[in-house]
Amino acid sequence: MKKLLQIKDLHAVLTEDGTEILKGVNLEIDVNELHAIMGPNGSGKSTLANVIMGNPKYKVTKGDILFEGESIIDLPTNERAMKGIFMTFQHPFEIDGIKFSSFLITAFRKLHGDDESFSQLNSILKERVQNLAVSEDFLDRFLNVGFSGGEKKKAEILQAYFLKPKLLILDEIDSGLDVDALRIVANQIKEIRKRGTSVLIITHYKRILDYLDVDKVHIYVDGKIVKSGDIGLANEVEEKGYAIVKR
Ligand SMILES: Nc1ncnc2c1ncn2[C@@H]1O[C@H](COP(=O)(O)OP(=O)(O)OP(=O)(O)O)[C@@H](O)[C@H]1O
Ligand SMILES: [Mg+2]
Repeated sequence: MKKLLQIKDLHAVLTEDGTEILKGVNLEIDVNELHAIMGPNGSGKSTLANVIMGNPKYKVTKGDILFEGESIIDLPTNERAMKGIFMTFQHPFEIDGIKFSSFLITAFRKLHGDDESFSQLNSILKERVQNLAVSEDFLDRFLNVGFSGGEKKKAEILQAYFLKPKLLILDEIDSGLDVDALRIVANQIKEIRKRGTSVLIITHYKRILDYLDVDKVHIYVDGKIVKSGDIGLANEVEEKGYAIVKR
């Protein structure tokens, strides 16, 4: 069977000025696997996530990204989303004037058609929101507008659950979460995984990984993966820092 995601010797530059940020990334993720990427600030982790999603700020100069065996590097972001790739943002955008529930339902219908009625989808959302320990008006507010840092991360994970992607990329979903919120978000990830969704989680901290069943940990330095291993590698990073991969 084909791998879900295959990244082969991927190089990418800033479209604006040609600065190379991704310098030869190789990564393979199978159906139902969870991979974690850890690495120093500014090493290019968010850029990798953005390049997988097809953000036009970046241009692929070498290598390829295959999703279910087919190259996606020439596809616009919306077509990658239609194929089942979803990414949560390290810094979610505020979208004034768009009610969160309307945003979610519109996105769901774009991806999965309109077999479910508006009220069916609304009631799924109302039920899901119960698990997030947020205020009752969460779904009625404009998307992320005035949300606290933790609320924004909960909004991201709700989108990830509701939109049922095949591949979920979580860029620092755990940053800025208090201990209770961290557990809530980790539980949502576990539920998402029960559907067979593969997850690529970018994080600075081992603590979220402790809640999850991690298949592989990758250490990412200066635009590429320099070391891969099991959860033991995350423990090593926590103890000794990135000195473990420096020559
Ligand atoms: N759109 C952009 N314009 C200018 N520089 C950029 C842009 N995107 C990324 N960079 C630069 O590329 C490098 C990698 O950035 P990136 O955000 O991918 O790092 P990161 O590994 O996610 O870091 P962090 O752990 O702090 O989130 C940084 O030096 C950043 O300033
Ligand atoms: Mg980042």
